[in-house]
Amino acid sequence: MPHADRAASPLASAPGGPLKGRLRAPGDKSISHRALIFGLLALGETRIEGLLEGEDVLRTAAACRALGATVIRDREGRWRVRGAGIGGLVEPPGVLDFGNAGTGARLMMGVAGSHPIRTTFDGDASLRKRPMRRILDPLVRMGTAVVGEAEGGRVPLTLRGPRETVPIVYETPAASAQIKSAVLLAGLNSPGRTTVVERQATRDHTERMLRLFGARVSVEPEGAAGRRIAVQGQPTLRGTGVIVPSDPSSAAFPLVAALVTPGSEVVIEGVMMNPLRTGLIATLLEMGAEIERLCEREEGGETVADLRVRASRLAGVEVPASRAPSMIDEYPVLAVAAAFAHGPTRMRGLHELRVKESDRLAAVAAGLAAAGVPNAIEGDDLVVEGLGGKVRGGGTVATHLDHRIAMAFLVMGLAAREGMRIDDGAMIATSFPSFVPLMRELGAEIRDA
Ligand code: S3P
Repeated sequence: MPHADRAASPLASAPGGPLKGRLRAPGDKSISHRALIFGLLALGETRIEGLLEGEDVLRTAAACRALGATVIRDREGRWRVRGAGIGGLVEPPGVLDFGNAGTGARLMMGVAGSHPIRTTFDGDASLRKRPMRRILDPLVRMGTAVVGEAEGGRVPLTLRGPRETVPIVYETPAASAQIKSAVLLAGLNSPGRTTVVERQATRDHTERMLRLFGARVSVEPEGAAGRRIAVQGQPTLRGTGVIVPSDPSSAAFPLVAALVTPGSEVVIEGVMMNPLRTGLIATLLEMGAEIERLCEREEGGETVADLRVRASRLAGVEVPASRAPSMIDEYPVLAVAAAFAHGPTRMRGLHELRVKESDRLAAVAAGLAAAGVPNAIEGDDLVVEGLGGKVRGGGTVATHLDHRIAMAFLVMGLAAREGMRIDDGAMIATSFPSFVPLMRELGAEIRDA
């Protein structure tokens, strides 16, 4: 059912006591999508521990089934995928409905679009607005036919893959792990070497998983901050075990909540510390946040750490555009931290925020304004006037089917004088279904409104 048909579920948050305790954020969304997709492309069984059971990922699981994999959740909560293998996908009987999930839809376009089958992709009102041309362009070069599409290269759209996919060298036009991954995944079903060049390194979960499942992949530095990634096509991928570490993009919400709510001390357990995902932590440390990385260890091929966070006096900073890829999903909640900081924060180079689950630049600016926080969009920059802990709040935020806008402004309400209200919290289930109960366990006042 498209999410837009669902009743909205407004929520409100209010300042109460300090936040105290420990929590574990759910499994990483990026890795969860990829674990299922690699399971589909592998032969034999893939066992996934800690899969994020959010709506976005469940859509990908359903798509994997429709393309020929067996996907089950066992009694211990592990997910088991019996793959169809590269070249072995079947034509799905119906439309692949990805709901709100841009990552699932885009990565799967690379997978299905490189097979000689006809596949139709669709999603909710948010996904239907998001640009897919960035995926279709390289796929067309690889031989995929776009049989039909909504205006401007959007879903619903239908792909038919070629008999033989053409390996290409492709430089991504935006710093986007989704574009990179779609091309590399398509390259898996081509008879040669597919190369992706990115000017700025983005999250590398696809590259890591290619290796884990047995593909030949090389990664070299490119220019000052980029990478050149090449994969040899038509390998036999073998099903394997995947442990999904905890999602730093979800941990970001309790983390900022603890920083801005006076007297708080919270430990967030097992957070993935992949350096291509930790831009928010780097920025918050520059702002003066007390965040300790405890007990660093390896989990599922990634470094994870427990983060001890204490309420802190934050100072405004300038965030360089070069940091955007490593904290792309964290700007809404960084803007909340910036509102409570002393002095202005300027976040540079945010153009990609305009094409997320909502136009996040506009949605954040409007939410801050509703809370009485002066801010300005200047070109691709967002400037937030920090009010030194004295945020009025009290407004209602339009969430535009965007889970991260919803969670960011609920966090703001925990420390803003008059609290905050959001028009709809339903989409939180796409990435962090346990957000409200876990926050309540820490002492947060969040209720239906
Ligand atoms: C993701 C990449 C990012 C990010 C998204 C997840 C991924 O998108 O915003 O939430 O898993 O590859 P872009 O590649 O569009 O920047």
